[in-house]
Amino acid sequence: MNRFTFLVLILLACNLYGQEGINYDETQVPSFVLPDMMVCNDGTPVRDVKTWEKKRRPELLEYFFSQEYGRTRYDKIGVRYEDVSTNPDFLGGKATCKQVRFIFSNGEKEHEAIAMLVIPNHRKGKVPVFVAYNFKGNPSTTLDTTILYSPAFPLVKKPDHPDWKRGCQMNRWPWERIIDRGYAVITMCYHDIYPDGRGQKMIDNSIISLFPDYQQREILSDSWGAIGAWAWGSSRLVDYLETQRWVDKKKIAIMGHSRQGKAALWAGAQDKRFKVVISNDSGCSGAALAKRVYGENVERITKTLEWWFCPAYKLYANNEAAMPFDQHELIALMAPRHVYVASAQEDNWSDQKGEFLATAYAAPAFELYGMKGLGTFEQPGIHQPIMTDVGYHIRAGKHDVTDYDWDRFMDFCDLHFKYGTRSYPRR
Ligand code: GCU
Repeated sequence: MNRFTFLVLILLACNLYGQEGINYDETQVPSFVLPDMMVCNDGTPVRDVKTWEKKRRPELLEYFFSQEYGRTRYDKIGVRYEDVSTNPDFLGGKATCKQVRFIFSNGEKEHEAIAMLVIPNHRKGKVPVFVAYNFKGNPSTTLDTTILYSPAFPLVKKPDHPDWKRGCQMNRWPWERIIDRGYAVITMCYHDIYPDGRGQKMIDNSIISLFPDYQQREILSDSWGAIGAWAWGSSRLVDYLETQRWVDKKKIAIMGHSRQGKAALWAGAQDKRFKVVISNDSGCSGAALAKRVYGENVERITKTLEWWFCPAYKLYANNEAAMPFDQHELIALMAPRHVYVASAQEDNWSDQKGEFLATAYAAPAFELYGMKGLGTFEQPGIHQPIMTDVGYHIRAGKHDVTDYDWDRFMDFCDLHFKYGTRSYPRR
């Protein structure tokens, strides 16, 4: 191949996979009007908690069910828990590491997943817990060779893929830091719930395949996708936590990064057992306002990652202005619980400003409960977190989960778990 052909190929590749049609220019952000979350679809203004809870909140939830993530199924799926291992000497004896096999069943078909728990050994009373999926398997979070890969991993990673390396994502799981602050974590590889990829094979190996009529199912405009399934799975982790005596059930937080940040917000919107909901770098279809069309957009995400959503979401590709809802309303669904959104300075793809603004615009829902929103529409500087009943930070660096992020998430949980809803000291 001569140099010219090489150059043409590179340019072609950049066009196909690169940033074509992606706006990174603030002056090109279209002017937009956000739908008013405080006015019901029939024009009734929302002035009290009752109208919010009985009328407006269900309307907003319905947008996300019917237009974005699809309808979560509530058919009863059975589950058995099998203890796989318990290691009380994890982290030099500071923590216990437990593996538990979840066997989901619809009576005919079974589906296996493996949860890993890290629990502080020195504890006074019950323990607050983070629910958080990992991307590369439980073994990626530690060098401990007794940690098992789950059955889903070979479906998504070829045998020679670097993601099979034990400990390959330890930087995102600062176990000691978390344990030292008294928190436990339950994690699971997100592929265990829905192997993240296009096509029937992935659906057949996802929990979606356990639901009645799945084989003959007609794909409807609001059929759920992978994000819906992951959110469903995080609620199943909470079901397990509820069987554990050491868990403080009023102190369960969910933390998700990127695609799992989207799923965490969606899980938190639906399941009120999550008292603190944390989205890290969740971007498009997560915390970021779609109508800004900055960084990843609806057209792009529904083209490259369409199995994450319900088919109806595609209607808004290149058409965000027509959306009768936006992501600030997803964040608002957490009220009167607590929500924290984090961005990274170099993560333009996720539209940091859009993540901040959606969080700020969610305030009215919290205010209805006498709670405080971010209290500003000016994005704070790097490493200047805002923590009220809602929280936000932007840190230096790229798209990732860092110690800085974890430290702030724990500060925020400390604030609310220690003082309880609405009674933390006001500044
Ligand atoms: C891709 C995708 C994002 C997603 C991210 C991730 O970049 O476009 O929407 O958040 O992957 O999950 O890491």
